Amino acid sequence: METTRESDLIEPVPDTAGTLELAEFLQWGRDLHQQGRYEDAAKAYQLILGLDRHNEEALVGHGRAVRRAVPRWHWEMLHDEERAELYDVAIRRAVAADPESLVLDIGAGSGLLAMMAARAGARQVVACEGQPSVAETTARVVRVAGYDDAVGVVSKMSTRMSVPADLPRRAGLLVTEIVDCGLLGEGILGTIAHAREHLLTPDATIMPSRARIIVQLVESAPLHRKNHVGKLYGFDLAPFNRLSTLEYFDSRLDRHEHRALSEPLPVFDFDFYTDGAEPRRAEFQVRPTAAGKLHALAFWFEMELMPGITLTNAPGRGSHWKQAIQVLPVPPHVQPGEPVTLEAVHDGECVRFGVSVGGVRQEAEEAAE
Ligand SMILES: C[S@@+](CC[C@H](N)C(=O)[O-])C[C@H]1O[C@@H](n2cnc3c(N)ncnc32)[C@H](O)[C@@H]1O
Repeated sequence: METTRESDLIEPVPDTAGTLELAEFLQWGRDLHQQGRYEDAAKAYQLILGLDRHNEEALVGHGRAVRRAVPRWHWEMLHDEERAELYDVAIRRAVAADPESLVLDIGAGSGLLAMMAARAGARQVVACEGQPSVAETTARVVRVAGYDDAVGVVSKMSTRMSVPADLPRRAGLLVTEIVDCGLLGEGILGTIAHAREHLLTPDATIMPSRARIIVQLVESAPLHRKNHVGKLYGFDLAPFNRLSTLEYFDSRLDRHEHRALSEPLPVFDFDFYTDGAEPRRAEFQVRPTAAGKLHALAFWFEMELMPGITLTNAPGRGSHWKQAIQVLPVPPHVQPGEPVTLEAVHDGECVRFGVSVGGVRQEAEEAAE
């Protein structure tokens, strides 16, 4: 099995490197950074540091590229105590059931869940992390915390891992937290399906085990304004809405003036023991509980880590995930007597809603113009 130690993550300098001038290497790093290829830029600067470990521009450039490549939400997520505590309880329970089982942590980040498994008594944990600059740091955190005997780090996407090259044998426990505010955005369905097929024993424990997505109709002009513009300062800026997103973005419902126009409604249930990333569609008749302007659909998840241990980003819970908000380009009026037809679809990675009121489908603003 090839697990990674910190020193392994320093890229070897290619044979051709000696023929390139340092200035050309630095220009390469700058170009990659400018193109937004931050992981590649970080690698380029790392190669330069392999040639000249004190090179000032490479040191600065490397740090700058890594910080652009690594999402800022990692820290907020790590400070989400409810998330950490619930995973810790669930992991302790799963590991206690069989400490000899090999544990696979997919999407290790700082290594938190892998170290929780080792602390709970797991003899061997493999933590994989697909973003190279994060994986390098996972290995460092694990070593500094003194868990490097039990936890090996693989710098790879799980979907590129295989047994026995990256895992000594199939794992008996999977722990993973690769979910965004809309649940599916980090590819949890496809990733777990791949793991079930290639990396886990047939009777492996999978954490999380299941999840549900819940939606609510909402009136909220401030949320609508986050994605739409009209006449302002004497100009009609509405054509700019061609660039507004038709998918969800994350925001905190309770930080924006809003009114619920329906009860929360479950739309999709997922069983991570059986489901794959195949697209799904569901249609519902929703009876509004109040009259108002339907600006947005707010949705969130309930995710069962193990039976009885459930994590949610429902409004008002203070979870770092916030809620997923899909704003309707042209908000229709709804009233209690008139059911709203809600079509929910997902393509394995993104949930989207379509809305019809009084038999009229709400189309994108551009098409409606
Ligand atoms: C939301 S963070 C969770 C980090 C850590 N497990 C925790 O709970 O604190 C997800 C991490 O998974 C990584 N990731 C996502 N999908 C992955 C996959 N299929 N294989 C390896 N890493 C993945 C991302 O790069 C990111 O660092």
